[in-house]
Amino acid sequence: MTRIVYVNGEYAPENQARISVFDRGFLFADGVYEVTPVINGKLVDFGPHMERLERSLKELRMAWPCTLEELTRVHEEIIVRNALKEGIIYMQVTRGVADRMFNFPKETQSSLVVFPQVMTLVDTANARTGVKVVTTPDIRWLRRDIKTVMLLAPVLGKQEAVEKGANEAWMIEDGHVTEGTSSNAYIIKDNVVITRPLSNRILAGCTRRALFRLAKEHNVKIEERTFTPEEAYAADEAFLTSASQFVMPIVEIDGRRVGGGQPGPITRKLREIFLQEAQA
Ligand code: PDD
Repeated sequence: MTRIVYVNGEYAPENQARISVFDRGFLFADGVYEVTPVINGKLVDFGPHMERLERSLKELRMAWPCTLEELTRVHEEIIVRNALKEGIIYMQVTRGVADRMFNFPKETQSSLVVFPQVMTLVDTANARTGVKVVTTPDIRWLRRDIKTVMLLAPVLGKQEAVEKGANEAWMIEDGHVTEGTSSNAYIIKDNVVITRPLSNRILAGCTRRALFRLAKEHNVKIEERTFTPEEAYAADEAFLTSASQFVMPIVEIDGRRVGGGQPGPITRKLREIFLQEAQA
């Protein structure tokens, strides 16, 4: 199916959409992005994604490409024009088009690209069986709190995971897990969910934020602290969160089975309550 995508003010079939070779996203990865899930044709957690976008733009001193109202309308229009029921909407803002030079160009209009991707999010085989992760060194820069399109380290990490028969790589820094290449990381020990506190070393996940709220409402305890791969191997349960996977059980880490190799009860409960709210 030919998708309808949005590029700088226009909707076009994907094979006719164009951006400049001088776009700073293309030349420098000088851009930020968001991925918002869609269930039953409705955006999930859109507000938090736009709050994070605003923060990313501010940290990089990049201008909004349009108003928040216009961006919201573009998301809704992309859902309608593509009859999107379940999947994600990807959006990217870059510092725009200018002659190639490292410092910020003057008076450049930010570029905006928005497109949909059909995906099964709710009833997935991975959620039923759980997924495998491997660990790899975290070789990223130190502003991982900004959601930039500069994703070569995560690309290499995910490729390594896939080549080892796993679905995700957990990145290790100073002997501790930071996060997944495109997800936040959690273990559960003695009924307590353990996850790294927010800092410049990880992305503040919107799914993580929703999970914290729901866990509190359902009396699931969360402890924010760093953890080692060895602790993860010995955990009762493990899972990851992201906009495209929600709460995803992990059943194997570096070839070692976690929680008997089955999705754990607390993880399953958290996924269920997350989906209940997202589908409501
Ligand atoms: N990735 N950490 C990293 C490094 C991520 O790239 C992501 C999301 C997350 C989870 O954030 P959220 O819950 O807001 O999706 C954590 C998106 C899904 C992606 O790049 O496709």
